[in-house]
Amino acid sequence: MSKKPLILGIESSCDETAASLVTENEQGIPVVLSNIVSSQEDVHKEFGGVVPELAARSHIEKIDSIVKKAIDKSGKKIDEIDAIASTAGPGLIVCLSVGLSFGKTFALTTNKPFIAVNHLEGHALSPKLNSKLDYPYLLLLISGGHSQYLSVQSIGKYQRLGTTIDDALGEAFDKTAKLLEIEFPGGREIEVLAEKGNPEKFKLPKPIINKGGCNLSFAGLKTAVLKISKTIKNDQERFDLAASFQKTIEEILYKKTIVAFNEFEKTNSPKEKKFVVAGGVAANKKIRAMLIKLCEEKNYQSIFPPIEFCGDNAAMIAMVGLEKFKLKLFSDLDHPAKPRWPLDEDAVFLKGAGVKL
Ligand code: KG4
Ligand code: ZN
Repeated sequence: MSKKPLILGIESSCDETAASLVTENEQGIPVVLSNIVSSQEDVHKEFGGVVPELAARSHIEKIDSIVKKAIDKSGKKIDEIDAIASTAGPGLIVCLSVGLSFGKTFALTTNKPFIAVNHLEGHALSPKLNSKLDYPYLLLLISGGHSQYLSVQSIGKYQRLGTTIDDALGEAFDKTAKLLEIEFPGGREIEVLAEKGNPEKFKLPKPIINKGGCNLSFAGLKTAVLKISKTIKNDQERFDLAASFQKTIEEILYKKTIVAFNEFEKTNSPKEKKFVVAGGVAANKKIRAMLIKLCEEKNYQSIFPPIEFCGDNAAMIAMVGLEKFKLKLFSDLDHPAKPRWPLDEDAVFLKGAGVKL
């Protein structure tokens, strides 16, 4: 029995300090041995958003104990680790620098290879944790900072089919939560409120629903929520607005995903009809249920990471590390932290006012 690679993953791109050990079984399926995530929600709550300086300080305070916990929990020894994989971008530079420097130092002092990982690639590969998934596949990445449809051809090979031209979906959830007076980060709480509301109560806009291919836009929706939130008189209306917002998102994703399917099918064969949904918003059960149903209608296999791997974590970083290790794709120790690092480097930057579709 040959020794399977054992990878230490480290994540600190935003407000989660995380470390994980991942290996694979005899069938080549990745196995998560430990997955430690320390969230900073309490640090940022009173400011209504992530404060970079405070986030970086918190990473510095916790990183060594989190990595130690991950190693202890895995039952493995430092000597047994084959490579260290750290997130190098995209994200907040002061935060990225903590996990990146820690990973490089760990690699240097233990004389092991270092692997710089793109955080978005971590989300893209997260469904591979504990299950088998072959390339290619269509990916919908919906997180706090990104909303994209990508054709995933292999590790490092992505074609962006569509992206948001303004807010990310998680951002739209968080901003709506703020308007409904839910504490930061309120995105997941919208789902809870929505269960008690009438989704038909408020009619909200679906920006660029009939144009722009599978590009997305949520800014106009947020403005509409802002206007209505000023007229809200009681809790029931708050629940109704949360439900109406969530239903509008479902309708947007339903329509845009069909467009993305058509785009994907132009360059991929019918037997490759696999649809992966990843990122923090993929934890939303209503959105999951709607996309699963759509996949059944369109003969796609729907694949979601387990809920614990939807939000930011280091297991997904170790997962990318594992694939890169097998391909001997190692990084130099002067690899920079990259605040902006698109998966499809050739795709045009679409974000910003005045975008024409
Ligand atoms: O992937 P993630 O943990 O971090 C980034 O890389 O951005 O995503 C965080 C985002 C936040 O905006 C959060 O509000 C949203 O995911 N989110 C949800 C849910 N759980 C997390 N949005 C909607 N429904 C949820 N259940
Ligand atoms: Zn993320």
